[in-house]
Amino acid sequence: MKLAIAGTGYVGLVTAVCMAEKGHYVTCVDINREIINTLNQGRSPIFEKDLEALMLKNKDRIVYTTDYKKAYKDAEIIFIGVGTPEKKDGSANLSYVYSVVDQIAETVENNCVVVVKSTVPIGTNDKVEKRLNENKKNNVKIDVVSNPEFLAQGTAVKDTLCASRIVIGSESKHAEERMLKVYENFDAPIVTTNRRSAEMVKYASNDFLALKISYINEIANLCEEVGANIDDVVKGMGYDPRIGDKFLKPGIGYGGSCFPKDTKALHWLSNFHDHELKTVKAAIEVNEQQKLRLIKKSRKYYDSFEGLTVAVLGLTFKPGTDDLREAPSLVNVPIFLEDGAKVKAWDPVGVPNFKKFYPTEIQYCQTIDETITDADICFIFTEWDEIKSYNVEKFEKLMKNSIVLDGRNCLENNNIPIIGIGKNENN
Ligand code: UDX
Ligand code: UDX
Repeated sequence: MKLAIAGTGYVGLVTAVCMAEKGHYVTCVDINREIINTLNQGRSPIFEKDLEALMLKNKDRIVYTTDYKKAYKDAEIIFIGVGTPEKKDGSANLSYVYSVVDQIAETVENNCVVVVKSTVPIGTNDKVEKRLNENKKNNVKIDVVSNPEFLAQGTAVKDTLCASRIVIGSESKHAEERMLKVYENFDAPIVTTNRRSAEMVKYASNDFLALKISYINEIANLCEEVGANIDDVVKGMGYDPRIGDKFLKPGIGYGGSCFPKDTKALHWLSNFHDHELKTVKAAIEVNEQQKLRLIKKSRKYYDSFEGLTVAVLGLTFKPGTDDLREAPSLVNVPIFLEDGAKVKAWDPVGVPNFKKFYPTEIQYCQTIDETITDADICFIFTEWDEIKSYNVEKFEKLMKNSIVLDGRNCLENNNIPIIGIGKNENN
């Protein structure tokens, strides 16, 4: 089928490449010329496993352009995958979505289906349809379908090609059939429903996962008080299939482009409907506090970071991505700097993005050894493999004072005290 995809961020680009892999012809549109130039050179603007290889493999079926008119005018299906960032009040900013909607209304010449992949508040698809019908230039029939994505960064290609489920929310049999055709070569359970339910599936799924993380983080914090070990507690809980062992990893809080914004957006929406989701509110509050958990623990050793050398291992919000959105490092590093610390940082892929925030204030290092040498304290924010397999004895050898705070519980028990989350230093 002939597809167009608006937005070549994580969601748009991965969707495009995977659709091409399944045999569709795809035109990707982005307003950012630099991104389109990079894509046209065969390079991916984002760090995502397998993406560049798949771009190359399917290059004859993908076109990248800034010319939306060319892309939309005769597309059978148009996906909207632009960002929906959070506004100051926590609600979702839909201006990018509506800007694409207006471009579609202005240009489509054939009947088509517009698919909203971006995460949007419940009821948005109805508004999109109304706006398209009011503004369309040509006498065409445009159906609107909600088709949320569930891809996680770092495994986005796999999550799309081998999806856990495909959710199709539509108000017409015709549109649903078109979507079933789009996905006919995918091997995944398909849930067909109405648009508002599909929109809700996305928020309810993301917020549930965020809630699970905040819950286990609170239990972890309590473990420290009562002398339990969270890693063993999680192991003991995870064998219960009703609980499961996924998304129960304690740490210094969730980040990324989705959980923080989607919890806030659903909480905002629930308040708007005078039906506050108290559990989601609690998940948000716990997460904000959790990001400062290691600093709180470090106060036992130092009142202030003034004059200290602080080593930071891991800058991205999770391993496998160069994305820094809502990363705990961005909350902690400013505190070190404000106190007057010298900060040395290492991350295998996140440094170029971090440099956009802190071009000169930090010493960026090539190796873990270099980062921790002569440091007074070390913070681990991301569980990169290089950190997990690091010889912990070197902390003692290379640091001035071997105080290591492991925000991801990624270092094994050992002879030197590593301060994790939800564990006493000696268990
Ligand atoms: C996505 C979703 O769409 C969002 O709703 C979901 O909750 C998380 O993931 P993401 O792919 O991470 O967003 O967005 P981002 O990486 O910000 O990329 C968006 C792209 O759209 C950018 O390349 C931007 O240049 C482009 N864009 C934005 C347009 O092409 N047109 C616009 O009007 C605005
Ligand atoms: C998430 C969802 O998993 C995905 O389905 C959705 O489409 C987009 O949002 P992503 O943000 O890429 O994906 O990453 P994810 O692996 O879910 O991790 C999010 C954050 O939670 C990370 O900061 C991670 O470190 C943290 N996390 C995850 C934990 O702290 N503990 C866990 O057990 C799992």
